Amino acid sequence: MTGNRVDVTRVYHFSAAHRLESPALSPEANATLYGLCHRPHGHNYYVEVTVTGAPDPLTGMAVDLGRLDTVVRRSLLDQVDHRVLEEALPLRGVVTTGEGLARAFWRLLAPAVGPGALTRIAVVETAKNRFEYRGEDR
Ligand code: NI
Repeated sequence: MTGNRVDVTRVYHFSAAHRLESPALSPEANATLYGLCHRPHGHNYYVEVTVTGAPDPLTGMAVDLGRLDTVVRRSLLDQVDHRVLEEALPLRGVVTTGEGLARAFWRLLAPAVGPGALTRIAVVETAKNRFEYRGEDR
């Protein structure tokens, strides 16, 4: 990475319902493992999207935030906001833990944001739980 690149982080919000259940486990094992999180419930999620780039000498901006907003809305928020996460098409087969969501959101956003631009995703599930993912190459 060269020294002129700047990390720009923008925060997005959505609300959704989910329940934690692994298809690899029995109903009893799921209930024991996930406890209250095995029951249907909801969160007000925040997603931090970090994009890294060199500021354009003309505009002074590394990232066009308006374009990023459009990409995140179309590629992510429209898919999950006010939905049951297990029923959202891009999340089929994903155990919707924060870890699972962070990786799934990366897969949705990375191609849309552009080659090498996305450098970090953070899923903030509650005030106490934050899940960060930086891609496969680290
Ligand atoms: Ni939950």
